Amino acid sequence: MPPGPPGHLLLGNLREFAADTLGFATRLARDYGDVARFRLVNREAFLLSSPDAVERVLVSNQRNYVKHAFFWRKVEAIFGKGLLTNEGEDWRRQRRLVQPAFHHDRIAEYARIMVEATLDRMERWRDGEVRDVRGEMTSITFRVVARTLFDAEVEGDTAEIAEAFDTGIEQIARRIRQPVLVPDWIPTTGNRRYAQAVRRMDRLVYRIIDEHRDGRDRGDLLSALMGVEDESGRPMSDKQLRDETITMLLAGHETTALALTWTWYLLSRHPDVAERLEQEADALDEVPAFADLPRLTYTERVVREAMRIYPPAYSFGREALADDEILGWPVPAGTTLFVFPWVLHRDSRFFPDPLHFDPDRWTDEFERHLPRLAYLPFGAGPRMCIGREFARMELALIVAAIAQRFRLEWCAEPPVPMASITLRPTGGLRAVVRHRPASSR
Ligand code: HEM
Repeated sequence: MPPGPPGHLLLGNLREFAADTLGFATRLARDYGDVARFRLVNREAFLLSSPDAVERVLVSNQRNYVKHAFFWRKVEAIFGKGLLTNEGEDWRRQRRLVQPAFHHDRIAEYARIMVEATLDRMERWRDGEVRDVRGEMTSITFRVVARTLFDAEVEGDTAEIAEAFDTGIEQIARRIRQPVLVPDWIPTTGNRRYAQAVRRMDRLVYRIIDEHRDGRDRGDLLSALMGVEDESGRPMSDKQLRDETITMLLAGHETTALALTWTWYLLSRHPDVAERLEQEADALDEVPAFADLPRLTYTERVVREAMRIYPPAYSFGREALADDEILGWPVPAGTTLFVFPWVLHRDSRFFPDPLHFDPDRWTDEFERHLPRLAYLPFGAGPRMCIGREFARMELALIVAAIAQRFRLEWCAEPPVPMASITLRPTGGLRAVVRHRPASSR
């Protein structure tokens, strides 16, 4: 068996894992190497911290590994059988159906909506005013995903929708933190709040679905899914439509908003980088558009480097179906395998001076020599993020559109990364929005 730390007789390493997940994973990799073993109560777990080890699980032998059930089962009432959590043939079929909405040509059309949502939000900003950065970014990214994939205009009831999904995410985070859950049907306060959050999201999502029943093809993802029939001519069930919609709305806005929040934080700490980024944005003739993306190379590197240091999906996991072997170590069926982009992205074997924010490290030469799975903010293999091109484009366009007009000056303590369901910055996230004097926009 691979090496690992001693643990409590009953709990194993659960306490250390729960108290400081990021620190625990970092120490485990440092002290025990690329395949390290630990235990969460009765669950044997390995942390994989080298690209080769990760490759086995996510790519070359991926059919032997399913998303770890114990983690996702806790939030089944939210995600159902949506793309993020589904498995097997069912997942493959759904992925084929959803994929066209993310084709390159298709997402080019989304660029305008992404920039419009950003400009609209900035209309509310006044020079010198203090704003909650995460809140601002979330409101932009939520609107983007709702309009691009569901043709839903959420501005009217933004507050209601944002709150419903925020509470939903909070409930997900709370349940995932708990090692043992009281079954859903027992009416504890926690369970009641969870059920209420699910009901609120359901109401909103079914409303979006109902609005699509007018027979008009809006050219969005939901219209496409509603037009699909299986071999026997049956359309997708309302429940499946609901699961895909809620999954996309959740997976498609929270991670992107966090990537933006961390990017603004890093830029506020590195004015030299911010200045170069602003110059690139200023060199565009107008507000950024799809055709400008090839000119936003520095912006793209800034975002890439921010997601290296602060990967929004800091960890993901799998469960082994049958016995396997990884880098010479036996992996018994049932083992839980963890991959921590947080650990890989901060490994000095791949990223010299890893804690230094340096967008310039991303030269073509550097990328050619980087092991393929040393950098994986969007995962890898067949279950890689379906929205990665969408997200990359969205991040570059939103950052450039804001940089043309404003600079964000952090006015709170540095945020502390917290391993919730995603990598959330905690603490004050306030920044002063300064209208750039040079900006004529
Ligand atoms: C910076 C932004 C984003 C990050 C860091 C991110 C990260 C990830 C990661 C790491 C996975 C794989 C998880 C695993 O293998 O267990 C994933 C899957 C997924 N992501 Fe993203 N994502 C982002 C944006 C988006 C967007 C914009 C959408 C949709 C509009 C989206 C939808 C999904 C879906 C549906 C899956 C499941 C795919 C499948 O299993 O077939 N993501 N994402």
